[in-house]
Amino acid sequence: MPSLIPSIASLMSDAKPVILTCAQPTGQLTIGNYLGAVKNWATMLDDYECYFGVVDLHAITVKYSPADLRKNTLSCVAQYIACGLDPERSNIFVQSHVIGHTDLAWLLSCITPIGDLQRMTQFKEKAAKLGFKAGEGNDLKFTHDGARAGASVNSGLLMYPVLMAADILLYNADAVPVGNDQRQHLELCRDLAQRFNHNYSDTFTIPKPFIPKQGARIMALQDPERKMSKSDENQSSTLYILDEASVLKKKIMSAVTDSSSEIVASEDKPGVSNLLQIYSMMSGRTVADIEGSLKGEGYGTLKKEVADAVISVFEPVQAKYKDLIDDKSYLEGVLRSGASAAQKRAYKVLGKVYRKAGFVERPR
Ligand code: TYM
Repeated sequence: MPSLIPSIASLMSDAKPVILTCAQPTGQLTIGNYLGAVKNWATMLDDYECYFGVVDLHAITVKYSPADLRKNTLSCVAQYIACGLDPERSNIFVQSHVIGHTDLAWLLSCITPIGDLQRMTQFKEKAAKLGFKAGEGNDLKFTHDGARAGASVNSGLLMYPVLMAADILLYNADAVPVGNDQRQHLELCRDLAQRFNHNYSDTFTIPKPFIPKQGARIMALQDPERKMSKSDENQSSTLYILDEASVLKKKIMSAVTDSSSEIVASEDKPGVSNLLQIYSMMSGRTVADIEGSLKGEGYGTLKKEVADAVISVFEPVQAKYKDLIDDKSYLEGVLRSGASAAQKRAYKVLGKVYRKAGFVERPR
């Protein structure tokens, strides 16, 4: 007679795969964060054990104000929930609340060649803004203004991808859903996990990137050759989830298109293609359907319809956000239980890592 008690193996096979992903609280979330990331994460709550971090330790690699960081961190949590990340079905936590992220980052830094970090596109872009320039073979050279530039590029900026790898490996995540801009950081994370496993025996799961087919790279409205980002100098380029309807409309109506007037997505029409992508994802209609319905219309009509679609998705999100941000004790409760679940998993993995790396166990 078959046993009614489930075997350990069958119980283990019922365990859901783990996803871990995060956003920086460097400002409000953008429509790029929404379409490339958060909207996608909200579809995974039932099929995965989900850890959603707000990575405050990452946010201090650039100039910041402590008061803004505090405000933006709680705001990011409220935006996550307002966008559909249900805390009853996922673990939402703040990175600095969980012991282990920086500890693991240190161990990983000891197996990370500096050259790999200097080659990271995001580091080069951020360092270039501060006066560093990529030289031959991708190593960074000082510009004529080197001494001052060198002083302003902090080593945290260089180490950023190691901390990000630690964020992921600390949870032994199976998959990491992110936008396209994080692809290179994830490759480094996979390399580090493989190197650690090779040096010290199997320890980490090698995490798979989950990059959505649509929306993985939403472009700046004023310069559709560049990714939309929170830190864009031209703020008309960036649509924020919490922008008022009139602001969203104004930014979309002034988006850069091109001199012809045909409404089709194509490589030589980055501005129009970007608007069509946003419209399609916000309305659930296909790009082909939208192109068909707007045949013969001008860009003004396209922009007006894009604005209506964006506003109709964001208005209910904003209403929910307003309720949440006023309910501090609810948000604290979410973070308390998120941190506790995250810490439990993190301690397990960190303990294993320390043992494998040869550290003597702390006497009980
Ligand atoms: P961050 O805060 O820049 O962005 C959060 C998420 O939004 C995606 N994203 C975009 N997707 C499409 N189009 C855009 N224009 C766009 N802009 C941003 C990002 O790809 C990301 O998925 N380094 C990370 C934060 C991080 C992290 C991690 C992510 C730290 N540790 C561990 C995953 C796992 C970052 O700066 O994301």
